[in-house]
Amino acid sequence: MITGKYPSLRLRRNRKQSWSRRLIQENTLSPNDFILPIFLIDGSNKKESINSMPGVYRYTINRLSQIVDRAIKKEIPMVALFPKTKNSLKNEIGSESLNENNLVCKAIIEIKKKYKNQIGIMCDVALDPYTSHGHDGLIKSNQIINDETIEVLINQSLLQAEMGCDVLAPSDMMDGRIGKIRQALDKSNRQNVQILSYAAKYASSFYGPFRDAVGSKGSLKGDKKTYQMDFRNSNEAIREVALDIKEGADMVMVKPGMPYLDIIKSIKEKFKIPVFAYQVSGEYSLISNAIQKKIINEDAVYESLVAFKRAGANAIVSYYADRIDKIIK
Ligand code: PBG
Repeated sequence: MITGKYPSLRLRRNRKQSWSRRLIQENTLSPNDFILPIFLIDGSNKKESINSMPGVYRYTINRLSQIVDRAIKKEIPMVALFPKTKNSLKNEIGSESLNENNLVCKAIIEIKKKYKNQIGIMCDVALDPYTSHGHDGLIKSNQIINDETIEVLINQSLLQAEMGCDVLAPSDMMDGRIGKIRQALDKSNRQNVQILSYAAKYASSFYGPFRDAVGSKGSLKGDKKTYQMDFRNSNEAIREVALDIKEGADMVMVKPGMPYLDIIKSIKEKFKIPVFAYQVSGEYSLISNAIQKKIINEDAVYESLVAFKRAGANAIVSYYADRIDKIIK
């Protein structure tokens, strides 16, 4: 719908002054749009930097309140917990995922005790931080086996829910796990636990720094292409989301973020449900390193985040979330 044309129509007129540009803005950011990932390590009194992710740290449980306080002060609605499990606790079947004293369980209890419902807690449901081979599922004759993996994921979900996790986020990409987890939650009287499905999760090179952060980088044998999606596909993402909604997902995630804005947009348009985007570790590192080297300026962060909103994302998981006040300014 175009009314009028040059020279009577000049789109630059609206851009002439800052006040006018502010009036015609279509998208903005607020702290409510963010989820902050937090990396956990065992031990005490440690805040450990991560080589590949400048500005991001791993926290021991007794230091956790430092970062959670910060998230609450900046009015971030939810944190996402990711453990760096000691190698000595990893095995073929990821049994540490079911230990009620594992890092994630301890962190949930700590946060709920101190902050009640001031902030939401989201936990990954997947085995990769706990398996010696670094895969998200169990392996039998060189295959990631689907249905047997789901049995473990159900127990991991029930355990996290019992500890007080608000939002379970299965990130494993096994078929059928959302329905099975929903059923198990409902059966055990946990109807109110939300499920955020990593519904469209691609096998991506952009996860590199994260695997470094959780210590699965060295151990990962092969790749995740038999369960995570092929980045050449978009129709398949629609099918994944449709199934997860049918199975009971409350919200869906698209991951990685910036190279997949088309996917966010089409899912939002088609399903009208809450769609979250994950600005993953590789995206964070690329932008942060380029800023550090003065290749691009700091405004690139804001630009990258608004792009998600423009595409239709409701919220963004971002390692920048704890600094969002400065970024929005
Ligand atoms: C594990 C998981 C991954 C990420 C979140 N959960 C990595 C993977 O699938 O290998 C990646 C997050 C990031 O790169 O920031 N299931």
